Parts: sequence; C-alpha cells; structure tokens
Amino acid sequence: MKPPLSAGKIEREYWEKIDEKNIPSHVAIIMDGNGRWAKKRGLSRIKGHKAGAKAIENALDSALHLGVKVITVYAFSTENWIRPEYEVSVLMTLLFQFLKLQRKKLREKNIKLSVIGDRSKLPEFVNREIEKALEETRKNNALVFNIALNYGGRADIVNGVKKIVEEGIDASTITEELFSKYLYTSELPDPDLLIRTSGELRVSNFLLWQIAYSELYFTDVLWPDFDTIEMLKAIIDYQKRERRFGGTGGI
Ligand code: IPE
Ligand code: IPE
Ligand code: MG
Repeated sequence: MKPPLSAGKIEREYWEKIDEKNIPSHVAIIMDGNGRWAKKRGLSRIKGHKAGAKAIENALDSALHLGVKVITVYAFSTENWIRPEYEVSVLMTLLFQFLKLQRKKLREKNIKLSVIGDRSKLPEFVNREIEKALEETRKNNALVFNIALNYGGRADIVNGVKKIVEEGIDASTITEELFSKYLYTSELPDPDLLIRTSGELRVSNFLLWQIAYSELYFTDVLWPDFDTIEMLKAIIDYQKRERRFGGTGGI
C-alpha cells in the first residue's frame, strides 16, 4: 500500500508490506498498559492515561489511511469503577477533554463517532460532550470511531436479553442474527481483528459475543507506545492468518 506523505523512511517500509485487498473492516483494541508506561518513567498513572489518549488519535489516522471501516477502543470497562475514585474521575475528565478536542478533527476527517456501553452511569458533563460529538459527526462516513465506555461483554448480553424479554419476542423466533440486533454493536460488523497491548493474554470482558471468529493479536507494547508502526505490524500479522470460520480452508 502507498504510504501517507507524512511517513518517515522506516514507517514507509511497513506501509509497503500492507496488502490493500485484505484490510480488516473492523479493528477492536483493548488499550492496556497506561499505568505501567507511567510507572516505568516514574510518573503518576494519570500521566500514563494522558499519553494513552494521544495514542488514540494516531490509531485513528492509521485506520483512516488503511481504509479500516470501524475502529472500536475499550476505554472504560464495567469493572474499572473499582479503581480509586481519583483515578476514575481523572479518566472521566480526560475523556471529556479528548472529545472536546477531537470534535472538530473528527468532522474534518469525516469520522463518525459511536459509543457502546451503559452511558447512564457516566457523569453528566461527559454525556453532554458525547451527545454533541455524536450529533456533529452523525453523517460522516470515512470511518466509525466506536468508544466502549462503561462497557462489559456480559452486561451487553444481559442488556440484550432484557430488551428481548421486554419486547415480548417469541422464543421460537430468536436466532443469533436477531440477538445481534439487541447488542450495543447492532449497527456494526463483528471485529475481524482484536488487538490487546501490554502483554496480558486475556479479553477482560470485551465484546464477548462479537469476537467469536476475530483474529487475536497480542503485543507487549504498552498502549501509549502503540504508534503507526505497531498498528502496521498488527495488520501485517493479520494478513498472514488463514480465516476458516469452521471450514477446512481448502485442505
Ligand atoms: C488501560 O491502562 C486504560 C484503562 C483501563 C482505562 P491501565 O490503566 O489498565 O494500565 P495498567 O494495566 O495498569 O498498566
Ligand atoms: C481492560 O483493561 C479495560 C480497558 C482497557 C478499558 P484492564 O486493565 O481493566 O484489565 P485487567 O484488569 O488487566 O484484566
Ligand atoms: Mg490494565
């Protein structure tokens, strides 16, 4: 694939390895390791989260140039509320600032914002900013930037079941396809590639239903260090996989 004009010499070599006919449509990312990144530098965890927020913009730009259609980032899990109150409140403030700063950029880059998770538990000032960004980017169509906020894969499924019961849907009509329509991701395709940074080999309650046939990519790189080259490495690895979906792969 042709590199973007901004790419330096080393980065260009990675871009040239990318097969533009085999780009994952949906890339989901568990952005982990902000705390460890900060600790390594003798900084507070908060500084790590700030550096992590910067890495998101980079991921969006690479996704745009790659032609990825949806990028989902795990920003706050249903379990993250158990962190110290101060850290939770800083994460919420950073999210607010990030959205405020990105609103114009998302518009200019033709990126549509989407949010999955239970927003009712988020502070009002965050929800207001989300609402504005959703509204302003509603018609954009180059890339969907989907943020998982107060999201849990199990909560997603339970929530879907509740809606189905509330609507009085007949059990005999429930199929996997119908059930998918009751999940937070009803409008989105399943992820083709799931990336987790920072070396942990687990999914931590992320998109449990949706990753049934996703290709998994784990890297030791901590999220704030996940730059364009790291993203390209993940895509190159993905392009070497043989996706079988339960078939024989022609062997
Ligand atoms: C990921 O980084 C960001 C969020 C969960 C919000 P962490 O804060 O989990 O960083 P580590 O895992 O402690 O290094
Ligand atoms: C997963 O990271 C959640 C997010 C990236 C938002 P965690 O750091 O919360 O996950 P565990 O606790 O290591 O499994
Ligand atoms: Mg973590």
